[in-house]
Amino acid sequence: MDIGDMRRDFESEGLDRDALNDDPVAQFHHWFEDARQAGILEPNAMSLATTGTDGMPDIRTVLLKYFDQTGFVFYTNYGSRKARELDENPRAALLFPWIGLNRQVRIQGRVEKVSKTESLRYFASRPRGSQIGAWVSEQSKAITSRGLLEQKVAEIRRKFSDGEVPLPSFWGGYRVVPERIEFWQGRPSRLHDRFEYVRQDDGWLIQRLQP
Ligand SMILES: Cc1cc2nc3c(=O)[nH]c(=O)nc-3n(C[C@H](O)[C@H](O)[C@H](O)COP(=O)(O)O)c2cc1C
Repeated sequence: MDIGDMRRDFESEGLDRDALNDDPVAQFHHWFEDARQAGILEPNAMSLATTGTDGMPDIRTVLLKYFDQTGFVFYTNYGSRKARELDENPRAALLFPWIGLNRQVRIQGRVEKVSKTESLRYFASRPRGSQIGAWVSEQSKAITSRGLLEQKVAEIRRKFSDGEVPLPSFWGGYRVVPERIEFWQGRPSRLHDRFEYVRQDDGWLIQRLQP
């Protein structure tokens, strides 16, 4: 299929250095709210790119669950493929593709596990079905049938039928501590606005990049 003709001009207001917050997390917050208010479907869905020791880039979607000055947090299985890659190389890239707003945000940084207390707090807030799902799945491992998964669901439901579902030891959060954040705003004729923030010892270096 030749889709070489598929293109659209980006009619959006520009992005100026003066309008940018000096703090990239505050700027992200501003854009995140815009995405939410614009009705973008799952504005907290982000691509997470990792690379283990084999050097082969890997990527998948995860949900951003928390962010502040310390970083961007998502939750997953600590035995998954992404977790192995992060063990081998604790660095990652995130991408928010807010195409409906002609925007994207790219983040790179080092990655650390969140504290058990933080994972516990988030796990406790999840619906019971998701809590059970976390226990059931040995994420990224092969399984011969869906029936086996459903059997495990029934077992785990029985096991915890008397009370709360505890946090599995193999499940929790990761925090991406940003070193570089780029804001991209699509403009007509491919003359897009791009600003990158690069972490320095004493703050952030902000510069405009060519489109
Ligand atoms: C919209 C969307 C949201 C997702 N959110 C998460 C998430 O928050 N955590 C997670 O572990 N997987 C999430 N997934 C599934 C992952 O994309 C991926 O399939 C899974 O984490 C296994 O990845 P891995 O084998 O590279 O470890 C999501 C998928 C989609 C499409």
